[in-house]
Amino acid sequence: MEKPALEWTSIYEGKAKILFETGDRDTLVQRFKNDATAFNALKKGSIPNKGAINCQLSAHLFTLLESQDIRTHFVDRLSPIDMKVRRLKMVGLEVVMRNRVAGSLVKRLGQPEGTPLAHPILEWYYKRDDLGDPMVNRDHIDILHLATDDVIATIEKMARRINGILLPYFSGKGILLVDMKFEFGTDDSGAVFLGDEISGDTCRFWDAQTHDKMDKDRFRQDLGKIEENYLALFRRVTQHEPEL
Ligand code: TMP
Repeated sequence: MEKPALEWTSIYEGKAKILFETGDRDTLVQRFKNDATAFNALKKGSIPNKGAINCQLSAHLFTLLESQDIRTHFVDRLSPIDMKVRRLKMVGLEVVMRNRVAGSLVKRLGQPEGTPLAHPILEWYYKRDDLGDPMVNRDHIDILHLATDDVIATIEKMARRINGILLPYFSGKGILLVDMKFEFGTDDSGAVFLGDEISGDTCRFWDAQTHDKMDKDRFRQDLGKIEENYLALFRRVTQHEPEL
């Protein structure tokens, strides 16, 4: 039996999730919140049922990746908004994989949103809210001692493989996976695992036909119908209703 939530101790609260210790040394509970922020928390809001939808979509996608031999931190889902995850030492980097031009790449490359990329682009960002998560390269990462060369090489290989699995998976559901952000960590033995979440908060998903946005850009850009689109995305991907 799981211990009741009252006995869990919050050890970290981020903008969209909370991590709890439950007394087990190898695992944590990751709770998904309805809170939404954008532009380094300059914009704040709440999206009804986002926590449950993102928790259950992430569980679905982590399970898919595990079936393809990608190690993820996902262990089990405990409630509509809580998942048990492996306790990791997180690498202080965000890895972005891109298949089309969107978001910050529009400005960086001066190309219109939606332009297909000849091959996926991988980018590293230093996870530092106080600096606004700046983009960094391998030399910066090395000088900051954020991870060993081996771990970085493994993360790069995993991120490219995950994109290679998810891009056709979503395409088969009529969804264009425009770009996505991953976070990785290591266990006591040094093995690398995918952590965090995979959801409309951390990826750009467009309807493949209309290019309508079905992700957090609806919140960032005040496009309306945010919850409706998160729900539609969930239904299209999983073919079932979320537990709310
Ligand atoms: P960007 O185009 O704004 O750089 O975002 C690239 C991808 O990363 C996009 O799928 C959204 C995701 N992302 C996050 O998950 N967290 C963030 O803080 C930012 C800026 C982007």
